[in-house]
Amino acid sequence: MSDTQKIIDETFEMLVKTYAPQPVILDYGKGCKAWDTDGKEYIDCSVGYAVASLGHAHPALLKTINDQAARMMICQASYTTKEKLKATKLLVENSCFDLIYFSNSGTESVEASLKCARKWAYEEKGEECNEIIAFHKSFHGRTFGAASITEKCHSQPFFGPYIPGVHFATLNDLASVKELVSDKTAAIIIEPVQGEGGLVPADKDFLKGLRQLCDDENICLIFDEVQVGFGRLGTLHAYESFGVEPDISAWAKGIGSGFPVGAMAAKEKFGRALTVGTHGTTFGGNPLACAVVACVVSEMLKPEFLENVNKVSGILFDGLNELKRSSNKITDIRGKGLMIGIDTVFDISNLISTLQKNGLMATQAGKETLRLVPPLVLSEDEAKEVLAIITKTLSELEE
Ligand SMILES: Cc1ncc(COP(=O)(O)O)c(C=O)c1O
Repeated sequence: MSDTQKIIDETFEMLVKTYAPQPVILDYGKGCKAWDTDGKEYIDCSVGYAVASLGHAHPALLKTINDQAARMMICQASYTTKEKLKATKLLVENSCFDLIYFSNSGTESVEASLKCARKWAYEEKGEECNEIIAFHKSFHGRTFGAASITEKCHSQPFFGPYIPGVHFATLNDLASVKELVSDKTAAIIIEPVQGEGGLVPADKDFLKGLRQLCDDENICLIFDEVQVGFGRLGTLHAYESFGVEPDISAWAKGIGSGFPVGAMAAKEKFGRALTVGTHGTTFGGNPLACAVVACVVSEMLKPEFLENVNKVSGILFDGLNELKRSSNKITDIRGKGLMIGIDTVFDISNLISTLQKNGLMATQAGKETLRLVPPLVLSEDEAKEVLAIITKTLSELEE
C-alpha cells in the first residue's frame, strides 16, 4: 500500500464517514491550480464546492488575513469594528438590500432567512402564516430548517420529523407554485440556478412571475444565492442576472473565497423583523471575516473582474458546445457564467476520477451531471486547458 493511501485510510478511519475519501492528498493551491503531496498539478474546477472565487492564495486576500489576524480576529457581535462597517457598507451600497446579518456558512444564512421571513409573516399576517414553498431538487443546506426545505433530505426519514408546513413546487412551473399558495404561505425560497439539483437555471419569466405572485399575495421571496452569488453568474449578485429583486438573499461560499463566512441580506421591512435576542451567532461578523468580505467584494467591484468571468464563461460554453457537436459524448450543457453543468454518456464517478487523473478537479451535481465551478479569476489560457483536458478525457473513456 502506498504512503498516500495509508494516510488517507488512517485519517478517514477517525472521521465520521459523511464523505467518501478521494484517492489523493491535497497539499497547496495557487490561483486556479492545486497540487497534491506527490507534486501532481490540477486545474481546480471545484474549489471546495464553488467557494474560492478569487482562486487559491490570492495576494490581496492573504495580506488582508495576515494583517487582520495580527490586529483582532474576534469580538462580541454587539461591538462594531471598522472592518464590520466597511464590509456592511460595501454590501448594502452594491446590492438592492438595506440590512445585513452575518453568519458563518450557507446553511446558517438560509436558517436566518427562514427565521426572518417567518417572524415577518407572524407579525404581518398572524401566527397561522408559517408555511414555506421550496422546489423539487432543491438544496439549501444540512441544518434542520435548511434540510426541511431540501427535497432530497425527505428521503432520509431517520432525521424526521422535519419542520412542518413545507411544500415543494416544480421549478419553472408557475402554476405548480400557485396551487400551493394559501393564506398560510410566509415565504417562497428558490435557488436562481439549482446547484446540487443538477445545474438547472430558473427561467427569467418564471422568476418575474414569482416576484409578481409574492407582491400580489404579500409573501416574502427569498433567493438562495449561496452558490450562485458573488460573481459566479457573471454579475455580482445572481438576482441581477435575472432582473428580479428578492426580499431576502442568503449568501456564503464566494463571499469569503475560502474563509468561512456568510450573510443574510434583507430589504428593510423584512430585515427589521429580527430584533435583539431573536437570532445571533458567536462568530458572525467577526473582524477577520468582515475584513475578508470587504477585500473579496472590493476585488469583485473592479470592472475587469466580472468582465473576465463573462469572457472565460463564453470560451468554456463555446468550446463545450463545439465538443458536444463533434463528439456525441455530451448530451447536455447547462448553467450560466462560471457555473457549468455537463451531462455525458459516461458514468459520472468514472468521468470525475478520469478527469482527476488527467489533472482536472471537478464535482458532481445531481445524479449524473459534471459540475465545473472554477475560480472566477480563471484566465483564457486556463479555460483552454480545461477544454483540452475534458476533450482528452472524453476520448479516452469507453461507454
Ligand atoms: C444553494 C445552496 N444553499 C446552501 C448551501 C449550504 O451551504 P454550507 O455548506 O456552507 O452550509 C449550499 C451548499 O452547497 C448550496 O449550494
